[in-house]
Amino acid sequence: MTDDAKPEIYKGLAGVPVDYTAISKVNPETNSLLYRGYPVQELAANCTFEEVAYLLWYGELPDPEQLGAFEDRERSLRGLDHDVKKVIDALPIDAHPMDVVRTAVSFIGAADPATPDESPEANLDKAIRLFAKLPSIVAYEQRRRNGLHYVEPREDLGYSANFLWQAFGELPELPVVSAFDVSMILYAEHSFNASTFTARVITSTLADLYSAVTGAIGALKGPLHGGANEAVMHIFDEVGSAEHVGAWLDEALGAKRKIMGFGHRVYKHGDSRVPTMHAALVSLVEYYDRPDLLELYTALADEFTARKGIHPNLDYPSGPAYHLMGFDTEIFTPLFVAARVTGWTAHILEQAAANALIRPLSVYNGEDQRAVPVRETAE
Ligand code: ACO
Repeated sequence: MTDDAKPEIYKGLAGVPVDYTAISKVNPETNSLLYRGYPVQELAANCTFEEVAYLLWYGELPDPEQLGAFEDRERSLRGLDHDVKKVIDALPIDAHPMDVVRTAVSFIGAADPATPDESPEANLDKAIRLFAKLPSIVAYEQRRRNGLHYVEPREDLGYSANFLWQAFGELPELPVVSAFDVSMILYAEHSFNASTFTARVITSTLADLYSAVTGAIGALKGPLHGGANEAVMHIFDEVGSAEHVGAWLDEALGAKRKIMGFGHRVYKHGDSRVPTMHAALVSLVEYYDRPDLLELYTALADEFTARKGIHPNLDYPSGPAYHLMGFDTEIFTPLFVAARVTGWTAHILEQAAANALIRPLSVYNGEDQRAVPVRETAE
């Protein structure tokens, strides 16, 4: 093939629109993110995560009656069956929590008699079930790896307060609940990111919702995607304190390392979600009295952005926020799963409603056709 005839390759599908979505709109020019038309900052300031989850699935914010019925349902589904706990307990204590969450979701799918029913109603039911149960799974994993027992969910608490209750076994204070809820809202949805696209690819084959969510969890684990919030904390541990930022960056950039928590495929001038999560982090820093952490956070962000022109993404403020709340670093990405399951499942429903098998082309650049050598057989 001559060079002229070579088709264009869109490596990483960068800049390629592959389908319509009515769920969210990312606008890099204006650094804005809309869920079903509403700016995410306004949702974070005025709504709970339960309301935002409802919005993503049903397309409209709930009225008080709809919200009450939705919350009742979610609260009643929070507990884990004995078998799910048994499966989690069978996993090595040092397994990565993302592997534990992926396995638990896969098991719930295998055990759900409704799995083969792919009607929109059945799929929405499964989505709400996973939304309700993921806090129990993630909170239990936070405890299990620290040698602690499972804490039963409380139906008198909202989503975020209950999540923190199940993780730490004590009632959280309001500033912590608010910051956690904001992080869940900001993490809930972000159009055709790698994990959501994975879920849509799996759905496009007519596989079930649990398979799609399990695949999405796998895609989210990588440090170029959700795993970055965990990696941010490892970087903070390496740097130590604000005064070491310059020397640490000299070495890291000299070694051509990627600095996790910075950069974005779509936003090139700053992530629209960062200012809201930054404000939540500042409130936590005040609550926990940890100005040293904010100094390190600010020094690294300012210095790296000044040197490379690359801005922090949502994982940058959320990593230290989860650290202050008391979560183990390895639990940060599972927290992202608990939030993003809302967006994933909204996309699964949307993909299924107007499906086309997702199957791109490749351009072969291996050996030209050749004959298999015929070997002489020994007499
Ligand atoms: N640290 C150092 N250099 C970076 C970073 C970074 N975090 N991000 C981008 N760059 C550099 C690249 O090395 C590349 O430089 P080059 O042109 O000299 O080779 C250039 O900027 C373009 O970067 P790409 O990786 O090609 O851009 P892409 O759009 O593919 O990447 C990505 C986006 C993967 C998020 C990237 O910025 C990155 O790896 N960031 C770190 C991981 C991270 O924080 N991921 C979280 C994403 S947001 C989320 O999941 C909530």
